[in-house]
Amino acid sequence: MSVLITGGAGYIGSHTCVELINAGYDVVIIDNFSNSSPEAIKRIGKITGREIKCFNCDIRDSKGLEKIFAGNKIDAVIHFAGLKAVGESIHKPLEYYDNNIGGTVTLLESIKKAGCKKIVFSSSATVYGMKNTSPLKEDMPTGGTTNPYGTTKLYIEQILRDLYASDGEWSISLLRYFNPIGAHKSGLIGENPRDIPNNLMPYISQVAVGRLRCLNVFGNDYDTPDGTGIRDYIHVVDLAAGHVKALEKVLGESGISVYNLGTGKGVSVLELIHAFEKVSGKKINYRIAPRRKGDVAVCFADPGKALRELGWKAERDVDEMCEDTWRWQKNNPEGF
Ligand code: NAD
Ligand code: WQD
Repeated sequence: MSVLITGGAGYIGSHTCVELINAGYDVVIIDNFSNSSPEAIKRIGKITGREIKCFNCDIRDSKGLEKIFAGNKIDAVIHFAGLKAVGESIHKPLEYYDNNIGGTVTLLESIKKAGCKKIVFSSSATVYGMKNTSPLKEDMPTGGTTNPYGTTKLYIEQILRDLYASDGEWSISLLRYFNPIGAHKSGLIGENPRDIPNNLMPYISQVAVGRLRCLNVFGNDYDTPDGTGIRDYIHVVDLAAGHVKALEKVLGESGISVYNLGTGKGVSVLELIHAFEKVSGKKINYRIAPRRKGDVAVCFADPGKALRELGWKAERDVDEMCEDTWRWQKNNPEGF
């Protein structure tokens, strides 16, 4: 079985390629390297001992996609490609709508023409908005996103639902990720932010390695045990394994399903900092800063549906997430 991976050079895509190859799938990657490096492709090859087929192609390039579908047998698509910086999306909404939504529509047209009609899509817990109370369940209302990035995920979910309603031959899995962190055990691939990280874990690891001086903890007056925000951090290799399970389902039957991919456990900002300090032996310099606009106090998954229907659950704990992040960061202080 051969799977087309859009955005396969990126953080989650690269780890998923490794898990897919280990599970016996062939992968064909397309990426425009707008937020990644071709070095990631070499590293996937090094980890798996395989020659990796990769095309430098934008998902908005219908002619390029057509050629790739014509020249390669593709049984299903896993669609990671997209822009993902929440703050940037507020300043550049059109870029986000064009790249994420426009790109997905072009990709879906190409998939349809090629006739494979099977797709796993990277959605996000952000579609739950700010009103629901954790643990978040798949049947809770979505909407009320606070930034264009989140809105692109919400709209793409709806586009995929509409597509299925128009043609029941499609087989679609919407995966709502919580907070992916960690890296592959080899230390060869990991998260590689281009600019100053927006997310907590890459910020912590860059402070630890000496690239950044001090972490701002955004608020310690939330209604949580230590006052800092609580999130559901999930090891990226567990997340990647969830894609293999979702792919099996998509290959096996038509339909549309949505799954939370999280651990179901909430961890505070201070708990994550202290876990990182413990496993790395490094002191993380931090200060308490005002709350960040758009943040909720608590966000974690009910991952029960993925366990019941896909037989998947996250296995790795926060210490392992920190250990693996640290190995990657230490070995690659400047990223790829
Ligand atoms: P990433 O930026 O590391 O990977 C995305 C990849 O897509 C990059 O390699 C980038 O170059 C590529 N890309 C972007 N636009 C493209 C285009 N038009 N054509 C071809 N390639 C393009 O991000 P990631 O963290 O690996 O996230 C993967 C997906 O998961 C994204 O859709 C993201 O929105 C979603 N997601 C991520 C998180 C997270 O916290 N990392 C959480 C929820 C959902
Ligand atoms: C986690 C916690 C912050 C940075 C985002 C997106 C979401 C999804 C995952 C893509 C919060 C605190 C953070 C810092 C801090 N991405 N924090 N100092 O906001 O839960 O989710 O990434 O879909 O859509 O919104 O993740 O890592 O930014 O923040 O104190 O420098 O860490 O306030 O409590 P978030 P995060």
